[in-house]
Amino acid sequence: MDTIRTDPAARDRATMDRYRRHLSTGRAALGEMFGGDVEVAARGAWVRTSAGRELLNCGGYGVFITGARHPRVLRAVRRQLSTNPVATRLLIEPQVALAAEALVGTTPAGLDRVHFACGGAEAVEAALKMARANGKRRLVSMENGYHGKTLGALSVTANPLFQDPFRPLLPDTAHVRYGDAAALEAELAAHPDESCVIVEPVQGEAGVVIPPFGYLAEVRRLCHQYGAFLILDEIQTGLGRLGYWWGAEREAIVPDVLLAGKALGGGVLPVSAAIATAEAFAPFDRDPFLHTSTFSGSPLGMAAAQAAIAAIRDEHLVFRSRWLGELLREEIAEILVERLGAAVREVRGLGLLIGIELAVDGLAGELLLELMAAGVIANHSLNSAQVLRLTPPAVMDHEDVDFLLHAVDRAARAVRDVL
Ligand SMILES: Cc1ncc(COP(=O)(O)O)c(C=O)c1O
Repeated sequence: MDTIRTDPAARDRATMDRYRRHLSTGRAALGEMFGGDVEVAARGAWVRTSAGRELLNCGGYGVFITGARHPRVLRAVRRQLSTNPVATRLLIEPQVALAAEALVGTTPAGLDRVHFACGGAEAVEAALKMARANGKRRLVSMENGYHGKTLGALSVTANPLFQDPFRPLLPDTAHVRYGDAAALEAELAAHPDESCVIVEPVQGEAGVVIPPFGYLAEVRRLCHQYGAFLILDEIQTGLGRLGYWWGAEREAIVPDVLLAGKALGGGVLPVSAAIATAEAFAPFDRDPFLHTSTFSGSPLGMAAAQAAIAAIRDEHLVFRSRWLGELLREEIAEILVERLGAAVREVRGLGLLIGIELAVDGLAGELLLELMAAGVIANHSLNSAQVLRLTPPAVMDHEDVDFLLHAVDRAARAVRDVL
């Protein structure tokens, strides 16, 4: 016991052991594969391990657009913690109203009703139920799309690996090719006035797949034409990640419901939201108990969301995301093509959602490991083994950018040997 208190390596082994005994042996094995580092602190773009290593956080699945523990978010959360962290839910509470107003101030005009939740999949569930309450019983989603793993969200996440062990899922679902408006039209035309379409503006977990420009506007038009309800899932892409406040802006569309999550809690707390038009929200508006959950709109999360939105706005993080993304994609492509040649298929993305697609099986995983060895945390892509994803924070400075580019170069040289 004494050794565990004084020896960091012994403490890390004990953590790993607890993972094995009480969480997941698979997760422990994965942790070991990544070098067994144990994270204990985070600040801005950086994560510190128990052994004192500093890692640049280009992972985190898109959460950290404001970096970790943004000072403004911390201040707001601390203030709320010392006054009213969790509401009674019977009385009216100001923070949730202020957060809704702040969020609606960032979304396309016409989206002004908000249902708050904690995780992303919960926001997806709320939106799917809103579609049902509006009479849409068929669900149309996109091949390789990702919307989460609760049963409803999983029903529209078209990956047999995640779906098959849990069948039967929701009935009356169809999956059509992403980026293919004609395929969507055929599906909607066969079931007019019955469908709910859920789509991402850029597919993140599919490996940063950007649809042809004009596709989203066409999806919006088709949904109008065939009486379908449109959910735009911006849980990963929203709040500046793409170099726009919302991917919806890029094609000037207004969905029936827009989904937010990940970055909404300012890298401090879990907060998500379904932001709807008044018409789409009407069933929830009439009966406030139709869809509820205890921690929906909790004041602590709401303080974090307001501060996150204010930080993104006042520090021009949307603009920073756009230009940092352009710079990084260009530089990373240059390094990788020089080091790995044709093994690199493409470096693509919008803003700070960057995908590196590799042409050799297993290379994305090798690169992920080597990046970690070089001090950078990256993401794999749940629905595409060939694509390594970088989701760096928009608060990175020049030194962080240099560090990342050196790490990419070092990792690329290291994986060259396995080619
Ligand atoms: C587009 C999209 N929707 C929904 C989700 C699910 O969010 P959560 O994992 O918080 O439930 C994710 C998570 O990666 C996502 O990327």
